[in-house]
Parts: sequence; C-alpha cells; structure tokens
Amino acid sequence: MRRYGVLAGVTLAVAVAVGAARAGDLDGVWVVGTTPSFPGVRMFEIHAGPSPSGTLTTDWYGAMPMRNLRITGDVASFEIDNGNPRLQAHTWTATRQGDGVRLVGDIWYQHVDASAHAGSETERHALAFTLQPPPMVLRALSSNGLARTPPMGWSSWNKFATRIDDVAVRQIADAMVASGLRDAGYVYVNIDDGWQGARDANGVLQPNAKFPDMAGLARYVHARGLKLGLYSSPGPKSCAGYVGSYGHVVQDARTWAGWGVDYIKYDLCSGEGFYRSPTEIRATYQEMGAALQATGRPIVFSLCEYGRADVGSWGRLVAGNLWRTSGDIKDSYDSMAAIGFDKGGKPEDAGPGGWNDLDMLEVGNGGMTADEYRTHLSLWAMQAAPLMTGNDLRTMTPETVALLTDKTMLAIDQDPLGRQGRRLFKRGDLEVWTRPLADGAMAVAVFNRAAQPLDAELSWEELGVAAPARLTGAWTAAPVERSASGFKASVPTHGVVLLRAG
Ligand code: GLA
Repeated sequence: MRRYGVLAGVTLAVAVAVGAARAGDLDGVWVVGTTPSFPGVRMFEIHAGPSPSGTLTTDWYGAMPMRNLRITGDVASFEIDNGNPRLQAHTWTATRQGDGVRLVGDIWYQHVDASAHAGSETERHALAFTLQPPPMVLRALSSNGLARTPPMGWSSWNKFATRIDDVAVRQIADAMVASGLRDAGYVYVNIDDGWQGARDANGVLQPNAKFPDMAGLARYVHARGLKLGLYSSPGPKSCAGYVGSYGHVVQDARTWAGWGVDYIKYDLCSGEGFYRSPTEIRATYQEMGAALQATGRPIVFSLCEYGRADVGSWGRLVAGNLWRTSGDIKDSYDSMAAIGFDKGGKPEDAGPGGWNDLDMLEVGNGGMTADEYRTHLSLWAMQAAPLMTGNDLRTMTPETVALLTDKTMLAIDQDPLGRQGRRLFKRGDLEVWTRPLADGAMAVAVFNRAAQPLDAELSWEELGVAAPARLTGAWTAAPVERSASGFKASVPTHGVVLLRAG
C-alpha cells in the first residue's frame, strides 16, 4: 500500500529501528501551499526505495517525472524538464523542514521556493492532473481547401503582446482598409494571446473583459471585407498564461465558429509538458484540425509548435494551412536573419494549401533599418511565407506602407505556383536565392549579410535562367546594371536586391 506523508513519521520510526536510510522521510505526497501561478505547482510525490521515482504536478505542464532522483538524508534532488528541447533541465531540491518539505527549483523563467505539507489521499486525488490523451490513431484529414496562397494579414502579438483590446482591434481593421493594406491582400485580423477569459458553468470559453462581444467584433471586421483570427493552445495554459483548449477542444472550435472566426493559431505552449513525442504532438493538432472541420465553417488552421517533430511533413495531414518553422522572432536583424536565412523549413513541404510559417513580421516596429526590413520581406516572399504584419497599423508611416505593399514583392510571395524558393549559393556575405514562378519567370534575391555595402555581379548562367526579356525590381527601380550575360547590383548593408526576371 502507498504510504502518504501523513504517515511518514510512523514509517520513519520503523525504518530507523531497522537501520534503513532516512529516505523514507520524503516518501509520500506533499501538497504545495502558495506558488507562482506559473507553473502553478500543486503537489509532488516521491516514492523512496532502492530506485526512487517521483512526479511534480503543475497546472501548466501536468505531472512531470522527476529525473535522476537522488535522496540523501533529508534532501531529495531531481531534475525537471518541461518538454521544451531548447531549455535545459534544472535541478530541484525537496528538503525536509519541520513537519513539511521545502521545494526549491527553476523552470523556464520562474524560480519556485515553496513549502509543502504532507498530503492526504483525498488531496492527492483532488489535485491530480487528468491527462487528456489526444486521439492516438493518426490519420490524414482532408484539406479544408483554404490558403491556396500564403495567408496575409495582421497579428497583435509582436507589437501589443497581451495589451490588446476590442477597441484597438477595430481601429486596426479600419487602418487596414484606410492604408490600402487590405486591398494589397492583407485580410486576416488576428488576435493572438490575451483575449481569453474564463469558462462558464458549461465549460464554454468566454473572452476576457477587454473583448466584451467577440461575435460583434467579428461582424465589424467582416463588414470591412476582412477576416477575424483568434489564438489558443492544446495545453491548459497559453504561453502567456491564459486558459487553453485542454479538455475542451470540440467545444472551443464550436464557440469560435459560432462567433464567426476565420482563423485559429494553435500554440503548443504548456501542452509541451505532456504531449512530448512527435506522435502526441501530431495527434493533438489532428484533434483540433478535425474539430475545426466538424464546425463546417472555413477556418484557416495555423500550427504553432516551433517547428518541432518535423511538422512540415504532417502539417497538411492535420488540415493545417501553415506551420511555424522556428521559435519566436524579435525585432532585430539578428533574430530575423537567423530565421529567414536558416529556419524556413523544407521547401518541398510548402505549396498551395500548406505553408512554412517563418513567424509574424516585424516591419514597422522600429528595430531594423529600412534595408533590413526589405531583407525581412524578401526572405519571407522568396520562401512563400505567410505575411502577417506585426506593427501598429494605426500609426505606421507612409514608408512602412510602401515596404509592406510593394507589388513585385507581394506577387512573388503570392505566386500561384506556390513553390518555395531556396538559397542558390553563398559567396562570402552575399547570398543568392531563387524561386520559380507560375508564368515561367524567376524571382531572384541578392542578399548582403555584411555590415557594409557590397557590389554583386551575377551571370544568367549561374542563376540558371535564360537572359530575361524583363527585369523588375521591388521597391525601387533597383540599382541594377544589365548586360547581355547578367547584371551588376550594389546591395546595401544588410539589404537586398529583389528582382523578377522574365
Ligand atoms: C508563443 C508563440 C508566439 C506568441 C506567444 C503568445 O511564444 O510562438 O508567436 O503567440 O506564444 O504568448
């Protein structure tokens, strides 16, 4: 029979009497009093003995196994990892103190230092994390027929994070129309993390107080020829700590469809604690993909699990229309370049209906030069990436509008052939990428990754294209000097010359 902490004292007396180690002091269930809401430690449980084992139960990540659990006298030490392969496992300690135990450790950005009391079976039962297994039969869902070209729109996260509300979203929708962005193709108005409230008595997810009428907001957005997007997680908590769809997948999909939502970004977040294997990750996305389809409403399905588990190979099979290929972008050249040049996913995975998502744009947020933002847009366009603006459309400058609405750049991104471009070669700080287009033309991007301008001279032969009848430059009449055999271009610092040849 399992011993619980309440009995530990009795057990200890017996154990000491027979000369056993005092490890039994920590054996049992320990209920944590107050802890930070992230990760919301509820309790932990240690099974002492020759090969000790244990679990740490949290609101965010469920019951996580204690790894390398060692018990020495009054102290147990163990490692906890939340399933995020980018984070190192941290060492935690549980130390007997008086009648209780002091628990100390780190997880992600949070330090936990909490005291715990011996728990009863009733408490253990009440605090247990109920694992909701995703459907374990993997299957190929039929395509929802959406996103024949990469989705374009706006998303709240990069500029506003969770400081977003109904009023701002309506103003953004208005600005999308007034600025000409809508007519250039940017139609999704996506509210990222931070709109979620609590569930009602029937489990129906409500928006929080900043979004008093989600259906009304959808009507407002639709009336302007735009579409509305929302965000959720397969975990109990979103990445910013809001309520996730855990245990309410079908119900949430119906709620969103009822409001008139057109796009869902589904972010693994706390689900990474217990949906760890590639099969589990795929299964949890399949569950939401099927639930969205079952609503009968056309809803673009955006997968956000940071490119793990070879998502590009199965994103379409869960009825996904786009899938992130990397961690989060920041508004800096280094962050953008790290994703844009090297984390664009496998080109063969992309095509009409399903796209590698290099993350939302930072154009207009101020952390990069205009040339760096041109590089940002060119990398995304060359790789057929979704274009979700991430700036404040209400206050953007005409220069930002011009960056975002360049016709040559957008036509490359939205090319109906849907073939993702690739790096053709790298020569020092110069990178040349090409992308075949539907009409037989070739998109060519000459990137300069150096901190000074560079002159490039390229021949049609090395680009693999016949001398084109026309050479169209994005943004400016490109500083390109044409000859019979190729062209010369001066490429600005961290900049690009983006061309359509043919
Ligand atoms: C994760 C995602 C981001 C954003 C935040 C919101 O970090 O990758 O794109 O949605 O969560 O909390």
